[in-house]
Amino acid sequence: MIYQVMPDLSPEEYEELKADIAARGVMVPIEFDEQGNVLDGHHRLKICADLGLKDYPKVIRAGMTEDDKRLHARKLNCARRHLNAEQKRELIRQQLSETPEKSDRQIAAGLGVSHPTVGAVRNEMVEAGNVEKFTTSIDTMGREQPRQRKPVSVFNPTRREEKAIQDPDVVDRLATGQTSSVLSASKQVNREAKAERKAYEAPTQMPDNCQVFVGDIRDGLPSIPDESVDFIITDPPYPREYVPLYGDLSRLAERVLNPGGSLIVMTGQSYLPDVMTELGREMTYHWCMAYMTPGGQSPQLWHKRTNTFWKPVLWFTKGEYGGDMVGDVLKSPPNNNDKLFHEWGQSLGGMQDIVERFTYPGDLILDPFLGGGTTGVAAVLKAREFIGADANEECVATSKARILEAIADAGCAS
Ligand SMILES: C[S@@+](CC[C@H](N)C(=O)[O-])C[C@H]1O[C@@H](n2cnc3c(N)ncnc32)[C@H](O)[C@@H]1O
Repeated sequence: MIYQVMPDLSPEEYEELKADIAARGVMVPIEFDEQGNVLDGHHRLKICADLGLKDYPKVIRAGMTEDDKRLHARKLNCARRHLNAEQKRELIRQQLSETPEKSDRQIAAGLGVSHPTVGAVRNEMVEAGNVEKFTTSIDTMGREQPRQRKPVSVFNPTRREEKAIQDPDVVDRLATGQTSSVLSASKQVNREAKAERKAYEAPTQMPDNCQVFVGDIRDGLPSIPDESVDFIITDPPYPREYVPLYGDLSRLAERVLNPGGSLIVMTGQSYLPDVMTELGREMTYHWCMAYMTPGGQSPQLWHKRTNTFWKPVLWFTKGEYGGDMVGDVLKSPPNNNDKLFHEWGQSLGGMQDIVERFTYPGDLILDPFLGGGTTGVAAVLKAREFIGADANEECVATSKARILEAIADAGCAS
């Protein structure tokens, strides 16, 4: 069974993707359920068969219901940056047709979109007669909630209740049965208004101590001055065709790291000997640490017949390391591989662990393979300075937005 939620690619789009995969390999892991059904990536899989490619990144997701699987497939598509607004609305329509009884918020949370967008799509569908107008809905906690508007009566109101009931949003909440207490309706409305104000006030400029830019490591990232960086903490792509990039990383590290600086590299096991040779071109091997990835977040590597629950974090230095003692077992929280911002995204908790173990507030960290910006978010949340680069423009835009949001949420802009 294939959980295909988007229409087939056009022949031109298919050929374009095929040429890209022939040139660079499969960039986005193909996702399967435990029975081997494709949850996401049927085009990529077909192209691999066409090209005779047997070695491609894959993820197995086990223990999902059929509903979960379809929702997950839609969520992955929604999170893809190449979907335009109309394509996202189409996925919302599919979800509403399938589970109209679920609340807008529940559908929004499942798909990773905003609940007003789900509400707008629902209204259009109700008007067009394509979905039933539900008088009850299931909320995000799985509870049934009335949707019908009822007249609102408040007996013997206190002064605060009298004031609160003047707000039409409070009345709406009571009328649709979302709560029966005027004061709790008012609190909810104020909380949401505050969240909106906060989103509106989010900074649009990166602070001076944090910058991200589009750059290909093979060009040497010349805008970064020599001997200006304290640590490189990074997670390059793992497939075989990317192994030479670890040599470029070694050259970059030798140039930009301060003497005694460290290069910390998360990588896969498949091509480890070659990766270590490349990293050793300009840098000195120091240690190999284990990054534990407990739970169901680790892929099954069929070509190696291995279920992997850890990955190496390689530690190379520029000259002698003279820093603190560091434990060599790192870990991400269980089931915490975050693919919302990048298909190969790492856990934010795991990255914060690495940042905290190796660096001090005020240190300058570089990640030349930004992806979804996890290292940058971990760095700013821990008050480190940060430079990030990625060859992919979308990755840089996503990282920038994510870092700005983290700064706004934590109130940690410099
Ligand atoms: C494994 S991902 C990083 C994921 C990241 N750690 C996160 O948590 O989101 C590797 C990144 O390297 C980038 N990349 C690939 N080739 C590159 C190159 N030659 N120069 C710079 N970045 C490159 C890819 O675009 C991808 O975003």
